[in-house]
Amino acid sequence: MNFELQNTTRIVFGRNRIADLDRLVGPDERVLLLFGGGSIKANGVYDQVVRSLGQRRVVVFGGIEPNPEYDTIMEARRVAREAGTTFVLGVGGGSVIDAAKFLAAVIRTDHQDPWDLLVSGGGAIDPLPNGAILTLPATGSESNPVSVISRKSRGLKLPFAIEAARPAFAILDSSTMASLSRRQLENGVTDAVTHVLEQYLTDDANLAVQYGYSEVLLSALFEAGPLLINEPTDDVRDTVMWAANQALNGLIGAGVLQDWSTHMIGHAITALYGIDHARTLSLVMPHLLRNRVDAKRRLLARFGRRVWKLDGADDHAVAMEAIDRLESFFVLMGCPVRMRDLPSVHFDIDDIVDHLERARQLPLGEHKNLHADDIRRIMLAAA
Ligand code: NZQ
Ligand code: ZN
Repeated sequence: MNFELQNTTRIVFGRNRIADLDRLVGPDERVLLLFGGGSIKANGVYDQVVRSLGQRRVVVFGGIEPNPEYDTIMEARRVAREAGTTFVLGVGGGSVIDAAKFLAAVIRTDHQDPWDLLVSGGGAIDPLPNGAILTLPATGSESNPVSVISRKSRGLKLPFAIEAARPAFAILDSSTMASLSRRQLENGVTDAVTHVLEQYLTDDANLAVQYGYSEVLLSALFEAGPLLINEPTDDVRDTVMWAANQALNGLIGAGVLQDWSTHMIGHAITALYGIDHARTLSLVMPHLLRNRVDAKRRLLARFGRRVWKLDGADDHAVAMEAIDRLESFFVLMGCPVRMRDLPSVHFDIDDIVDHLERARQLPLGEHKNLHADDIRRIMLAAA
């Protein structure tokens, strides 16, 4: 095991913590408050944020889309530059927070196309500080360095990992979840589960701490998910919000060979068909795991025995049963597990492979041995 770990985001967790903004943002900052389609205005979060920012100079930019669009972020950059912004505050779900981090990263670069700059890995960037107020537990974006940004004009959805754009703080107040739709709650739990699995179901190293904590997070999400939808309590909301954060804050992935092939295929599917992020993952993951069952057998069997409490001495049988249980959980969360669950979408497997090629993401997988033909086989199994 060999890793470096530094997560510099200050987590401020609990009810009525939005008022803490006053302490977390410097008094002289010129704040750009970034938000989405208006949920924060309907549920009172916006008013709490504005009240907490008090006398600070605040410019507001709304309209960040789910699966945030590059052109919209560039428009926010124009507004932020005009306003002399010194601090970006993202208030919303993963889309708004991803956009806030990306925006913070590119405000100060004069490069005419910051997307190209970041893709090429060339040139220094000097992100502004940013903070996050999370209203939808799912992505872990609030304390990680990743922004997933869509660019319709190029038909692409790409992840950008920008360490210096990691939020300075993240306020996780689970009372903001009360206004979430059932669909978004289902999505959040499903996304968080797949984040753990992309890091846990890989090589059979002997990492008692990372694997053990992954199992704790999975058990918590499998137990809390149905409760969150059917009989939510404050404790259940807290559990999901904290577990989703921990699922992608770097800890369980430290020193671990990671997969992320379900996510890259999922991003392609969202770019092509606009399907919610989590729903692309439930569609792909069970079939991908069955395709990779030999390579992932020991961890899948461990997942079956420790998390699903399966008996049986045969690793292959336990591994396959564990995948079936996972698939059933996605169904319980109202998420699709076959293309036919989404009858209005006309999938074209070649287009999915084409996205992965244009995004230069092939071959995928923890051992980089998942090629175009493997993706085709996996998607055919998902038909
Ligand atoms: O736009 P608003 O009005 O805020 O409404 C949103 C949106 O319509 C709504 N919502 C959020 N909080 C709410 C609420 N509605 C009522 N009450 C609240 N408290 O929910 C809808 C979906 O929001 P969105 O932010 O798009 O969802 P999510 O958090 O699932 O984020 C998905 C995005 O994150 C990316 C995905 O690819 C996708 O673009 N990801 C980011 C990752 C990261 N940064 O590490 C990792 C993930 O794997 C993922 O790829
Ligand atoms: Zn995800």
